[in-house]
Amino acid sequence: MDANQSLNGVAECNPKPILVTGGAGFIGSNFILEWLAEGRGPVVNLDKLTYAGNPENLAAVEEHPDYSFVRGDICDRELVKQLLDRFKPRAVVHFAAESHVDRSILGPEAFLKTNIDGTFTLLRAAKAYMESLDVAGRADFRFLHVSTDEVYGTLAPEDPAFHEGTPYAPNSPYAASKAASDHLVRAWVHTYKLPAIVTNCSNNYGPYQFPEKLIPLMIANARQGKPLPVYGDGQQVRDWLYVVDHCRALITVLENGRIGETYNVGGGNQRSNLEVVTTLCALLDELLPQSQFRPHAQLITYVEDRPGHDRRYAIDARKLEGELGWRAQESFETGLHKTVEWYLSHAGWVESVTSGAYQHWVEQNYGSRETTAGATGSSR
Ligand code: NAD
Ligand code: DAU
Repeated sequence: MDANQSLNGVAECNPKPILVTGGAGFIGSNFILEWLAEGRGPVVNLDKLTYAGNPENLAAVEEHPDYSFVRGDICDRELVKQLLDRFKPRAVVHFAAESHVDRSILGPEAFLKTNIDGTFTLLRAAKAYMESLDVAGRADFRFLHVSTDEVYGTLAPEDPAFHEGTPYAPNSPYAASKAASDHLVRAWVHTYKLPAIVTNCSNNYGPYQFPEKLIPLMIANARQGKPLPVYGDGQQVRDWLYVVDHCRALITVLENGRIGETYNVGGGNQRSNLEVVTTLCALLDELLPQSQFRPHAQLITYVEDRPGHDRRYAIDARKLEGELGWRAQESFETGLHKTVEWYLSHAGWVESVTSGAYQHWVEQNYGSRETTAGATGSSR
């Protein structure tokens, strides 16, 4: 995208804004909504609007005087430089990424491009920008890199949860690309004194999550009476965190975290995939008493496993809790209830993001997956 064109109509901000990348995606849009609701000042959102980016997520703040949107690519060096020079942000909060593991298995290129090259482009521009600031501006500036627990690899059932010192062992192309980006950030801190902080978070769920990910996919399929595709034996474990709790953790780290540190973020909610899906089915049975597909658990279908599927993730968030006082406010039960209600009352949103190219993805990812023995119905 042409940089000048993309800046048209975007007002310069005062007081200093933050520059958010990937703010039209799931976590980024929740972050911007939370940031503006808390009255924390202006935000400039740089987003390429890939299939996962949806300006509708931010419709409520489109006209907000503190919100500006720039459509563009984080790999566009000139655009990134122009945005930093023009808006003089006090922080960059970097969400933009290709984020779906299954897509990374079927097409890793975009992951290496955005997650590695894109992060490199931002780091290089942020370094030059930081060096142009006066002493006070430099002292205030932060680069917050939003990363994932998947960089740590997989845990056996009795292993302790991932902590900030757990060695990196990424297993999917997505995880490897995020691990590479984390290493780049580390190098920019160490070598160039860039005031960056990294967060590694567990699985998020909540409003505006694209329905290719487990929880919104299961809700969308169940509503339509479609199979609920559980990979492998469904006993893989994830540690779930309500997205707004993640956003509050990011704000806490941005405002009070120590430069050069890593903070793990997680909800302490380890659940097997099968538990998650059966809980969702029970919630849907309760909230949709007239549904012809009740009991929704009859739709559960075991399908061929994800190649290289990580068995278990779990996060030890004691550093963030102890040092910065962050606590998750939602339990898995309250967060999931809110989430299901949100999806049920936003059928139009689901419809609009799953039309068109999404259908092609469903065919590509699920079309050739075999249904495995003992396929449908109740849990194992
Ligand atoms: P998402 O896929 O929903 O959104 C990604 C956003 O980035 C989209 O708006 C997309 O348009 C934008 N984008 C992609 N490529 C871009 C580019 N080259 N230039 C500019 N914008 C681009 O992702 P998400 O789930 O919101 O994740 C956000 C970040 O949080 C990612 O870095 C991800 O690795 C990390 N994370 C996600 C989770 C999770 O459970 N979803 C957990 C931990 C960490
Ligand atoms: O752990 C943090 C990561 O969580 C983030 O970094 C990623 O961006 C995010 O996508 C998420 O990765 P997962 O692979 O864990 O999420 P996903 O929702 O794709 O899958 C969750 C689990 O559910 C996983 O074990 C695979 C399984 N699954 C997923 C889908 C889409 C199924 O069994 N069936 C499915 O159809």
